[in-house]
Amino acid sequence: MKEAIEQIFKELNELKANTAKEVEEARIRFLGKKGEITALMEQFRSVAPELKREYGQKLNELKKAANARIEELKFSVEENAQAEAPKEDLSMPGDALPLGSRHPVSIVRQQIVDIFRKFGYDVAEGPEIEDDYHVFEALNFPPNHPAREMQDTFFVSTGHLNPLLLRTHTSSVQVRTMESQPLPIRVVCPGRVFRNEAISARAHCIFHQVEGLYIDKDVTFADLKQAILLFAREMFGPDTEIRMRPSYFPFTEPSAEVDVSCNICHGKGCNICKGTGWLEIMGCGMVDPNVLKASGIDPEQYSGFAFGMGVERIAMLKWQVNDLRHYFENDMRFLSEFATATEV
Ligand code: DAH
Repeated sequence: MKEAIEQIFKELNELKANTAKEVEEARIRFLGKKGEITALMEQFRSVAPELKREYGQKLNELKKAANARIEELKFSVEENAQAEAPKEDLSMPGDALPLGSRHPVSIVRQQIVDIFRKFGYDVAEGPEIEDDYHVFEALNFPPNHPAREMQDTFFVSTGHLNPLLLRTHTSSVQVRTMESQPLPIRVVCPGRVFRNEAISARAHCIFHQVEGLYIDKDVTFADLKQAILLFAREMFGPDTEIRMRPSYFPFTEPSAEVDVSCNICHGKGCNICKGTGWLEIMGCGMVDPNVLKASGIDPEQYSGFAFGMGVERIAMLKWQVNDLRHYFENDMRFLSEFATATEV
C-alpha cells in the first residue's frame, strides 16, 4: 500500500490537462467512486492496526494533494481558455444611447421668443406666485372683476387686501417690467400660468403664455398691427394674413383679438378653422393710460401696445393637434413626433 500511495503522489505531480474534460477525467480517475484513491481508502479498512496511524495520515495527505492538484489544473485550463478567446473588437461601433428631445411646448415657446428677439425685443420673466396687485389691480381690473373669483384663480393666501395667488396670465410681467426698466421698453415675457379650470381637450389648469409689451413715444396701433403681421408670417409661413376683431381687455384700449388665415385650408374652410378660414391666436391692444399711470409712466408722453398668446394654442395650430391634454401627458409616442421639429 505504501508503494501505491507513493506512486499516486508521483502521478499527481506529473498530471497534465489541457481541457476541462481532461481535468474531470483526472478527477474521476483519482477521486471518483471507483477512483484509485477511493480504492486505497477501501483497502485501508483491512490494514493492520499498528499501521493504521501511519497509513491513515499518508492517505489523508494524498487526498488533499489530489484535490489541490485538480483545482490547480482547473484554474489553469480556465485561464488558458480565456486567453485564447477572441479579443473584443474595439473598432465596433458603440451602442447608441436613446437621446431625449425638446418638448413641443418648449420648441414653440422658443420659436416665438426667437422671432421677437429678431425684431429687437428683450426677454423678461416674473414670478409664478404673484400678488393681486401685479396680476389684476395695476392692470386696471375693477375691484369686483370676475377673474379674481375663486373659480378662475388659485389663491395662495386670502383675507387681506393684496393676496398671493398663482398668476392667471403673464401680463403681470408687463407691470414688473414697467416698474423696473427704463423707457423705451420692448420685451416678451414667456411663462407658465394657472387657472382654476376643469381639464378638457381645449382647457387646462396649467399652460404657457408669451406676453409682449412695447412702450415708447408715438407708438401707434399701426405699429402693433405690423409687429403681429410679421410675427404671424414668421410663425405660420409667408402667405399668412391676419385680421383683427374688436375685443375687450381691462388693460388695453382699444383691444383686439387676432386671427391668422388658416394654414391648413388656406381660407377655403376646414374642420380645424370650423369652416371660417381663420384661427384665433392672441389678444392685443394699446396699453390703457391707467396701466401706464399705475406704473409711473406718463401717458401724455408715452404710448405702447401689448399682446398675449397661449403657447399650447399656437403649437396646436402649427401641428394640428386637436387635444391640449397631449401636451401634458408625456406619452413618448406623442413626444417623439417632435424630435426633429426644431425649425420654424
Ligand atoms: N392676458 C390675456 C389673457 O390671458 C391675453 C392678453 C390680451 C394679453 C391682450 C395682452 C393683451 O397683453 O393686450 O387672456
